[in-house]
Amino acid sequence: MGRIVWWDGKFIDYEEAKVPILNHSLQYGSGIFEGIRSYRGKKTYIFRLEEHLDRFFNSMKIYNMPVRFTKSEVREAIIELLRKNNLGDSYIRPFAFYNDDKIGLSVVGKPASIYIAAVEFGKYLGEKESISIKTSSWRRINSTVLPVKAKASGNYINSILANMEAKLSGFDEAILLDQNGYLSEGSAENIFLVKKGVIYTPSMSDSILEGITRDSVIKIGKFLGYEVVETEIPREDIYTSDEVFFSGTAAEITPVTNVDGIQISNGKIGKITREIIDTFSKIVRGYSDHFASWLTEV
Ligand SMILES: Cc1ncc(COP(=O)(O)O)c(C=O)c1O
Repeated sequence: MGRIVWWDGKFIDYEEAKVPILNHSLQYGSGIFEGIRSYRGKKTYIFRLEEHLDRFFNSMKIYNMPVRFTKSEVREAIIELLRKNNLGDSYIRPFAFYNDDKIGLSVVGKPASIYIAAVEFGKYLGEKESISIKTSSWRRINSTVLPVKAKASGNYINSILANMEAKLSGFDEAILLDQNGYLSEGSAENIFLVKKGVIYTPSMSDSILEGITRDSVIKIGKFLGYEVVETEIPREDIYTSDEVFFSGTAAEITPVTNVDGIQISNGKIGKITREIIDTFSKIVRGYSDHFASWLTEV
């Protein structure tokens, strides 16, 4: 854990950063957050900081959260926080919330606070080379119920249920279907399939979070010369895929070799998955000549 956190414009000790137990966002899930990674490579870099800041501010806008800081103030705070904590590879968590301690839902007229913390971070989905996933009996929330494009705490109750069901059934992670039964995404990851050399991923209309790693994979895939298709994907297509992998800030690119007990890619990491992982790993640590604009030096 980084010893120092940023809270509403000040750097303070982690131990001093306390909220009341009746905190609105703790009770009702009204927080907005981001998950950003930094990597130590040639130098220390934050991966796609601008896109994460855009999504953070858009999420707050969707929820009409009164923002007291500008994007550039939050950007500077994140960079300075990493300098102060001097971490290795890290996960950065900006969190906007109502630091209120009353019973009652209404947030109209209430100010929002922002904190930013950073933790040392390795692999999210365990040390195994590839993982198993289970199709959840819970459907992915959709925009008729909650804005899925906003990265809001409350959305993750849906993810937590799916992840719990998968883990209790002996799988590493869950995949959720959308309202129409098409593939949507993992509990905190986007999903990709490879069939006959073409890369497929559910489209924006399949109730997915617009993943920044997803966008990176699409761009890397095209750069490597592959056709990348964003489309509705029926559930059964995943079982007959040559390769399956997850993308996400925490998950990075995680190969999947077992879906609902059906083996994919003979249980091995597929060639295209491997190529994308290798390219991605070089880019994030500053060892590639391409996509340099995705990196912010600390
Ligand atoms: C529900 C969900 N889907 C997908 C992702 C992947 O998005 P990103 O690549 O921007 O981290 C995340 C993680 O942020 C997530 O929470």
